[in-house]
Amino acid sequence: MAFESKIKTIEWVDNVSRMIDQTVLPKEYKTVDIKTDEEMFFAIKDMIVRGAPAIGIAGVHGVSLAAIELSKSITDKSEFLAKLKERGEYLKSSRPTAVNLMWGVNQQIELASKIQGNIDEITKALIENGIKLENEDIEINKKMGDYGAQVVPKGATILTHCNAGALATVGYGTALGVIRSAFAKDPTIKVFADETRPRQQGARLTTWELTSDGIPTTLITDGMCSYFMSKGMIDMVVVGADRIAANGDTANKIGTYTVAIAAKYHNIPFYIAAPLSTIDISIKSGKEIPIEERSHEEVTHINGDWICAKDVNIINPGFDVTPNELITGIITEKGILKPDFKTSISNAFKS
Ligand code: MRU
Repeated sequence: MAFESKIKTIEWVDNVSRMIDQTVLPKEYKTVDIKTDEEMFFAIKDMIVRGAPAIGIAGVHGVSLAAIELSKSITDKSEFLAKLKERGEYLKSSRPTAVNLMWGVNQQIELASKIQGNIDEITKALIENGIKLENEDIEINKKMGDYGAQVVPKGATILTHCNAGALATVGYGTALGVIRSAFAKDPTIKVFADETRPRQQGARLTTWELTSDGIPTTLITDGMCSYFMSKGMIDMVVVGADRIAANGDTANKIGTYTVAIAAKYHNIPFYIAAPLSTIDISIKSGKEIPIEERSHEEVTHINGDWICAKDVNIINPGFDVTPNELITGIITEKGILKPDFKTSISNAFKS
């Protein structure tokens, strides 16, 4: 059963990409209109829009914006397609880990090359495809939610890390979609949300989303999860994913691997919720997933204030990879994939 969420993170409106500005939540709610592919590059890089499926759609819209721009000055179709491909490569370079960005841009470039018509017809087809993919994203999340809700025990307390919610997608969410669907069936379920340093997506975004929907949520700091697991206060873990390799190894927000190890030690089921567009079957294992290194300031500062010695060394990987043996199941729009993941993932792509 679907639980309605009013949040629409990114949408195509009057030839612009309108998105919720996630850098200012929860203090302020505002949307921004992205009008060019260059603006889209920075919206993704600076995390105005973030979360794997949401940046997938941002990539899709980015190509539509590039097409609109190029169609104003180029009349030769092959020149237009070549330049569009270049702009697509530029958009893909904004963030390296979430494969949905590559998926979104590649889909649009491929579509453009297949359209028989003129430049205006190509541009129109790209815009229409973007709107179709937006709607599909929400439908896929609701399907995942329904599958995932089946494995949530009655009255469970669910731990999640980072934000894999409506804000990380067009709407409804992946991991938080599972929570929304489970809550619609059983309003006694509760959530523990990890703060998720350094950017605090758990504290800033997940608690905002879930409490707005009336889902009881407790915020904890990242180091607390094993304490609560040892007290029997967590029944399952559901997180999202930025890229899943063909063997099920999963890149997600830094700190996820620690949660997965703690869950294994305490015999707590650990689920990933992600659409098939997050699975990169071209890579055999998580070793091949590029990990984004983000700015040192995310670690040295909180809310603009220094929190450490000025000459300390800093390292800031944005993601880690959870090995497949720590994962109980991968919740997708085609059902829950179980170990061995190499086989179940390959079958999901065949059916
Ligand atoms: O750096 P972000 O905020 O874009 O990272 C997003 C995540 O890692 C989320 O936790 C998520 O699971 C992937 S998006 C559903």
